[in-house]
Amino acid sequence: MKEQNWRDFLRMKVFVRPYACQLGLMIVIGLAGSALGLVQPYLSKYLVDNALLRRDVHALMISAVLMFAATVAGSILSYVSGYGYMRVSASMLLDMRLKVYTHLHALSPRFYARARLGDLVSRLNGDVAEVQRISSDFFLTTLTNALFIAGSLGMMIWLSWKLFFVGIVLIPFSIALFRFFQIRMNLLARELRERSAAIGTLFVETLLGVRLVACFNSSEYESERFRSRNDSFVSTLMRFQSTSMLGRTVPGTLLTAATTAVFVYGGQQIIAGQMTMGTLVAFMAYHSRLLSPVQSLLGLSASLSSAKVSLSRVLELLDAPIEVTEQPDAVAVSAVHRSIEFRDVTLRHDGRAVLDDVSFEIPAGMFSVIVGPSGGGKSTIADLMVRLLDPDAGAVMIDGLDLKRTRLSDLRRTVVLIDQSPYLFHGTLYENIAYAKPFVGRVAVEQAAHAAGLTELLRGLPEGLNTVAGERGLTLSAGERQRVAIARAFLAKPEVLILDEPSAALDAACERELVDNLRWAFAGKTLIAITHKPALASVADHILYIKDGRVVEAVSV
Ligand SMILES: Nc1ncnc2c1ncn2[C@@H]1O[C@H](COP(=O)(O)OP(=O)(O)OP(=O)(O)O)[C@@H](O)[C@H]1O
Ligand SMILES: [Mg+2]
Repeated sequence: MKEQNWRDFLRMKVFVRPYACQLGLMIVIGLAGSALGLVQPYLSKYLVDNALLRRDVHALMISAVLMFAATVAGSILSYVSGYGYMRVSASMLLDMRLKVYTHLHALSPRFYARARLGDLVSRLNGDVAEVQRISSDFFLTTLTNALFIAGSLGMMIWLSWKLFFVGIVLIPFSIALFRFFQIRMNLLARELRERSAAIGTLFVETLLGVRLVACFNSSEYESERFRSRNDSFVSTLMRFQSTSMLGRTVPGTLLTAATTAVFVYGGQQIIAGQMTMGTLVAFMAYHSRLLSPVQSLLGLSASLSSAKVSLSRVLELLDAPIEVTEQPDAVAVSAVHRSIEFRDVTLRHDGRAVLDDVSFEIPAGMFSVIVGPSGGGKSTIADLMVRLLDPDAGAVMIDGLDLKRTRLSDLRRTVVLIDQSPYLFHGTLYENIAYAKPFVGRVAVEQAAHAAGLTELLRGLPEGLNTVAGERGLTLSAGERQRVAIARAFLAKPEVLILDEPSAALDAACERELVDNLRWAFAGKTLIAITHKPALASVADHILYIKDGRVVEAVSV
């Protein structure tokens, strides 16, 4: 599992590559800042041995000025590199989030049938932010601290190798202790993120289903479920925190013990006249400064375990395969002249054939109706026609051209599907209708609204088309939502329009008017309605009966 996680970090290189030069520059500036930090303790040796012990004021002034200059220059360089590095890493992580986001948009209904919304949001938001938090200073902190540690160790050996051994003898124990805590934290970090996602999922699911919760008096039950998930989150959080605190402090405390040893041994050397006072002061300065970068590296690798977990959760999303893809030599499609044909199409969900070796043709330029019992596979047929799904066997074709060979954007301009339960964004009715063609003029949107039978509704609304539809269009009735979706279709004016249960929420009079309007607006184009209602079928030019994933009958009127 550990090895896998490290490989995950290697996969970040596609996001790092475009910024490699800028990152490199910031790291060089950061390293220069930390090299300046290394000079300071050595200046204290000069200060003690040459200025203080020899009572030389000139030397005192020189060392004071140099110390001040080194500190200021070092701080400026660290600030510049830290700021620049943060900027670059923020851009990198934006790229990553965007990539995950566009990937999610390309995944099929099969993926979403299984995915949990709360979990997806938690990965896209929380996990990406966690990766960003760590990676925003990972390279810089690691390299500058590593340089500082290596430089300090070198200077310490140079000053007194005996003292050096006394100073570092405890370090391996400290690292071993740290590794022990780190392994525990790895496991706890994953558990923590999963528990947090479980809470998010519960929120999203019960809030989306708030009507169901109310109707079945389940509010208390849901609160109890939330409480229990929260309890297990908090208990993992506490275990994570205590492990994290122990992991940060115990190894560090061990290192502090080494400082005492250096003091004792160095003091003895000075008393015996084998070491200058300045050497011990400089050595102590290096040694005491060693603690903070070592702790910061140890702390960083602790955060790294949590970032590793988040990264693998993000990469799991990116690894979800995209089923519907466009071939490199995809061809344009802009109209249907003869027919849309299903040839020997089989589509399985979880191994069960929803459509079983189905063949039929829907003639172009006519009004066709697909009729059949619930669960018979009608909506699946619609999904196949716009390539939300691809068949497991056989082909869906426009004028003999396999849809898999067409350009996706062309196909979805040519064939438009209005879903069985149409989706509305939280925005005005205008924005919701104009979604089909965002840059079309107001007049066209109004015409589409009227053609879809929204005139009455709009007349009753003080703000007309500027009325806000509410989250998922919930300020509207089901029939009104459906008409907004149909207005979108009028605006898009595709060559082929598929309406999945267009009149399920409409009364007979509205349905009649809708069909008349559709036939008029789509005269000469291909109109396909999926329905349970025989009334719609009675006005169609072509009827297809579907049952249990098979075509029972095809009738041309
Ligand atoms: N993602 C999925 N995973 C598993 N099974 C699925 C999935 N999507 C649909 N099904 C199954 O496929 C079958 C056909 O579904 P489909 O939505 O095409 O039916 P339908 O004819 O449109 O029904 P209705 O008239 O009720 O809308 C159903 O039995 C359904 O359970
Ligand atoms: Mg359906």
